Amino acid sequence: MSSVTLDHVHKRFGQAKGVEDVHIHIESGEFFTFLGPSGCGKTTTLRMIAGFYYPTEGHIRFGSQEVTSLPPHKRNTGMVFQNYALFPHMTVFENIAFGLQVRKVNKTDAKERVERIMKLVRLEGYGERRIDQLSGGQQQRVALARALVIEPQILLLDEPLSNLDAKLREETRFEIKRLQLELGITTIYVTHDQAEAMSMSDRIMVMQGGEVQQIGTPHEIYHRPVNRFVASFIGETNLWEGTVTGFDGDEVLVRTASGQMLSGFKKNASPRAQLSVGEKVTMSIRPESVLESTGNEGQNVVTGSVVMSEFTGACVNYVTEVGTESLRSMSINLGRPIKQRGDAIGLHIPKESIYFAG
Ligand SMILES: Nc1ncnc2c1ncn2[C@@H]1O[C@H](COP(=O)(O)OP(=O)(O)OP(=O)(O)O)[C@@H](O)[C@H]1O
Ligand SMILES: [Mg+2]
Repeated sequence: MSSVTLDHVHKRFGQAKGVEDVHIHIESGEFFTFLGPSGCGKTTTLRMIAGFYYPTEGHIRFGSQEVTSLPPHKRNTGMVFQNYALFPHMTVFENIAFGLQVRKVNKTDAKERVERIMKLVRLEGYGERRIDQLSGGQQQRVALARALVIEPQILLLDEPLSNLDAKLREETRFEIKRLQLELGITTIYVTHDQAEAMSMSDRIMVMQGGEVQQIGTPHEIYHRPVNRFVASFIGETNLWEGTVTGFDGDEVLVRTASGQMLSGFKKNASPRAQLSVGEKVTMSIRPESVLESTGNEGQNVVTGSVVMSEFTGACVNYVTEVGTESLRSMSINLGRPIKQRGDAIGLHIPKESIYFAG
């Protein structure tokens, strides 16, 4: 297994920006995810690690080995492509064995390795099937087996679940995670699905427009987003604008655009947030942290009128109009009466749940 370092890597396509200044160190054995919307540069970055693109600037290292201009077959990475890129006219066995043939592994060893890997991805008995006779989920596992059979130091997965239905996605998510933990292999995973990224990754790199927005654990990215983009891309959140009006010990006092007074903790501020009197700040408040008021909280209670009430069985969700702003809240259904559209409601926004994104 190997660590992966991207040292100020840039990729330009003519005048067009591909990715800019990606600077990361991925630990050996880590499950690291590139997350972001379509066109943000995820595949481009992954392809540079695999060697299918060379950086315009910067360096790539596997452990201490410089690989920046090494061709793909000399890098010992296994890659699952966004569209799988399987060979449709070949059988499952031939597809998986392909990388070993290229590497001139002798036939007996190759057969043994292919069979072992087919067992690992639960494809035993499918060796003689043609690719076009397989389901999407089975094809996905062939692609994974083809990447793993060469015993790569680094596994690169580009949206490997995008062609699967919801249930199969979830199952395969567990499968990939299980394999990664079993093999302890450094894995770089590309997705635009935040739930997938959150549930599988040790760390996530959030990208937008070819630039890195934030790198952190799922917990850090969710609770400490550095800007509006990250806050809204990762899960649902309320973004409220406000102006700092003063300080009280370790707390910041903010007046929201519609005149509500809220208090939050200074320590919950991103490095980019300007916390001085008169400065504008963006507050991120997660719906699940907003509670129906008991009437005893004192501070940080806002009142409004319910504009949408949603009962999902497990949860009760409200959208409440608070002055000129709207506040989403989400709570576990504890069997209490459910408010309806037009009802008045008091909501408590706990101080520790306000994050100043800057
Ligand atoms: N070979 C190329 N030539 C020119 N521009 C390219 C090339 N490959 C990618 N780009 C551009 O670089 C940017 C990043 O593309 P990339 O494929 O890395 O995005 P992505 O994050 O993988 O998106 P998706 O989620 O849609 O797969 C895009 O603006 C794209 O148009
Ligand atoms: Mg892509």
